[in-house]
Amino acid sequence: MAGTVRVLPAGLDIEVADDEPVMHAAERQGYHWPTVCHGQAVCTTCFFEVVDGAEHLAPPEPLERRALAQSPVTQASPAARLACQARVTGPVTVRKRGVRPADGQPDGQPDQQPDQQPDQQRDQQRDQQRDQQRDQQPGAQPEQQPGRPRDQQPGAQPDGRTGRGQVP
Ligand code: FES
Repeated sequence: MAGTVRVLPAGLDIEVADDEPVMHAAERQGYHWPTVCHGQAVCTTCFFEVVDGAEHLAPPEPLERRALAQSPVTQASPAARLACQARVTGPVTVRKRGVRPADGQPDGQPDQQPDQQPDQQRDQQRDQQRDQQRDQQPGAQPEQQPGRPRDQQPGAQPDGRTGRGQVP
């Protein structure tokens, strides 16, 4: 075993084999690592920042060096390395957002904004609950169905009245 990579802020530990790229090790152990090009050293989406243990990272190969030099994001961070290319020789701590246990979302999908989808689901569930509660309240008026004669509307009285707009 070449080394362990601790990924912050998630606090995940990934065991990396000899001559194995960090991202490949993460995927092998069931983690999602952000990527678009799937290890081609093109997208630089996989980059991480070295927090500790830089001496345990193998120097970048020309392919990685070229990609790092061409990306404005990685140019701005001298501690950046590409997870799809970087090999380790000992314990290293890195910072990379978006690394998490794989959940079935296909690779290459942009990371969802945290809480965006749960918010939408929560709103939808809240709307459904509100509709159900309204329908179950005593005296709730069933919704009118367009195109149906008045005496065939849900809740219609035998004399054809719906109970709406009646003067006592
Ligand atoms: S996965 Fe695209 S550059 Fe590493």
